[in-house]
Amino acid sequence: MSTQEPISPLCDLTTGDYDEILALWQRAGLSVRPEGRDGPAAFAQQMASGRQRIVGLRVGPTLVAVIVLTHDGRKGWINRLAVDPAYRRRGLARALIAEAERWFTEELDLEVWAALIEGYNHDSQALFDRLGYRRHDIVYVSKRTRPEA
Ligand SMILES: CC(C)(COP(=O)(O)OP(=O)(O)OC[C@H]1O[C@@H](n2cnc3c(N)ncnc32)[C@H](O)[C@@H]1OP(=O)(O)O)[C@@H](O)C(=O)NCCC(=O)NCCS
Repeated sequence: MSTQEPISPLCDLTTGDYDEILALWQRAGLSVRPEGRDGPAAFAQQMASGRQRIVGLRVGPTLVAVIVLTHDGRKGWINRLAVDPAYRRRGLARALIAEAERWFTEELDLEVWAALIEGYNHDSQALFDRLGYRRHDIVYVSKRTRPEA
């Protein structure tokens, strides 16, 4: 894969793309839970729920950027955004987030969309700052059925 090859238009991904999506998440250094909510069975269930959409960008056949969009009926959520290290700072994340915002507003009529970003992830915080997202002083708490969920 040459970094000079053109980026293909946005495409919707399916459960059949799972292995490639997981490989990209790992290549991008994203912390994911392949034994839990990012595993193949959970992934298939989420896709079947109708509340999840996965959008990607390819160079040739290779997936180089991905975003998982979900909604809970109140808010749109941006999850598991990842761009291949060889393709960063070219506006790929910006393009995926623009599609997220279009989907949330134009198709789902949602007025709020959000993302959770780890405190140490300054790259992602810079991205969302740049795109006009407001930071909140919120403590994220969670409870789970098993540690790897
Ligand atoms: C965060 C990430 C998704 C950004 O993807 P990207 O395609 O490089 O981002 P874009 O090129 O669309 O950036 C748009 C703007 O956001 C800001 N930005 C993005 N990455 C930045 C960085 N590392 N440092 C500072 N600003 C940054 C810039 O203003 C940039 O515009 P510019 O390049 O014209 O200055 C990518 O670095 C990544 O995959 N990181 C690892 C996985 C991750 O952290 N995902 C997010 C989990 S919440």
